[in-house]
Amino acid sequence: MNESHRFPESFLWGASTSAYQIEGSPLADGAGPSIWQRFAHSPGRTINGDTGDVACDHYRRYRDDVALMSELGLQAYRFSISWSRILPEGTGRVNAGGLDFYARLVDALLAANITPNATLFHWDLPAALDDRGGWLNRDVAEWFGEYASIVFAALGDRVPMWATLNEPWVVTDGGYLHGALAPGHRNLFEAPIASHNLMRAHGMGVQAFRAEARIGQVGLVVNLEPKDPASSSAEDAAAAQRGDAYMNRQYLDPVFKGGYPDEMRDIFGMAWPDFPSDDFALIGQKLDFVGINYYTRGVVRDDPLALPVRIAYVRQPEHAYTETGWEMHPKSLTRTLLWVTERYGRIPLYVTENGAAFYDAPHAIDGVVHDPLRVWYYREHLKACHAAIAKGADLRGYFAWSLLDNYEWSLGFSKRFGIVHVNYDTLERTPKSSALFYRDVIRSNGTALDAQ
Ligand code: FCB
Repeated sequence: MNESHRFPESFLWGASTSAYQIEGSPLADGAGPSIWQRFAHSPGRTINGDTGDVACDHYRRYRDDVALMSELGLQAYRFSISWSRILPEGTGRVNAGGLDFYARLVDALLAANITPNATLFHWDLPAALDDRGGWLNRDVAEWFGEYASIVFAALGDRVPMWATLNEPWVVTDGGYLHGALAPGHRNLFEAPIASHNLMRAHGMGVQAFRAEARIGQVGLVVNLEPKDPASSSAEDAAAAQRGDAYMNRQYLDPVFKGGYPDEMRDIFGMAWPDFPSDDFALIGQKLDFVGINYYTRGVVRDDPLALPVRIAYVRQPEHAYTETGWEMHPKSLTRTLLWVTERYGRIPLYVTENGAAFYDAPHAIDGVVHDPLRVWYYREHLKACHAAIAKGADLRGYFAWSLLDNYEWSLGFSKRFGIVHVNYDTLERTPKSSALFYRDVIRSNGTALDAQ
């Protein structure tokens, strides 16, 4: 007999997006530019020079998109708020037009009985703050606290789920170390400072939530990716530990254990500063949940030349990969959820992103864009979530990345992650088979997975 995949009754089923990736109209109604607006408009930074100027035009079509969410039976929707719409200069003057957009979106969601889950920072720092040093300026924590307080005061009576930051690791690794993402710096000495200020800002955001919000819960969203050694050598084992410290423990240890992993000094050498010990009280504010973005695992070997972490990724010929080159490894999602539970305690968890880019069929057939590989990806990862709950993780919900095909940062529109297809010429939305599959899973609270 097949095992039942029924999820707990209160399990929350949703989908995720982020502001710059879907909204378009980045300067509408008095908004200031963000670093993504600038980066995307700098020659050579993104594939085909793609920008978020139009993206999915969600800023103007949000009502239709909420209706689409209802049709798919989504119970929750995770989106992000654009800081420079609210504070065009990053601090100081509040732009009512920007706040109003998110108030209207939240009201539309609530009217459709869809739980809003808002992230305050999903990479689009106000450009005006980058001019003042951005994440390298220690004052950024106060700037973020000011922004967070304004948003909580405006929406904190209606939004029950909040995250401070999305994926601080990507902000630092892409934005300050390797330069593929805004603001495009490549500097070993900047990376630890940016990370630490991100975490201080997170702490300020949590404090602002406790002071201003009237309902709900607050958490941090991190991307986690287990690292497995490519061989049984001691060098590869140490490489896997470094990779794990750098990507996974660097952001959760300071929150839950009051300090950074020892490996950080080995990785960054003299670029790793001594941080003021008082900072860890701020960073370690109590959280209501951790949001986990999971896409893949990494099989790594020691590579002394690949500075600073000194790891190289080893392709697994027997496994399938997505179009972004990520190994599909659903079992590692179960492992990840259990690892967080064991290492940091049985805190409530949400999978805040999980999904895959593939070459989809270019057109709908009988009204549906067929994406069998993505259906496979979701099915197996949802089973992996169920297995983690059975083994003791307090997993409360799951958000598919993404509701819509959208602007995949420096990869532009070349990678499609949506469960709903977007035609970028007409902006027409068409559900993919993965959206219909996910709708059935939601409707049956997981038992649609049983037969498969
Ligand atoms: C995550 C980001 C999200 C999207 C997916 C594919 O790292 O949070 O915005 O780009 O990857």
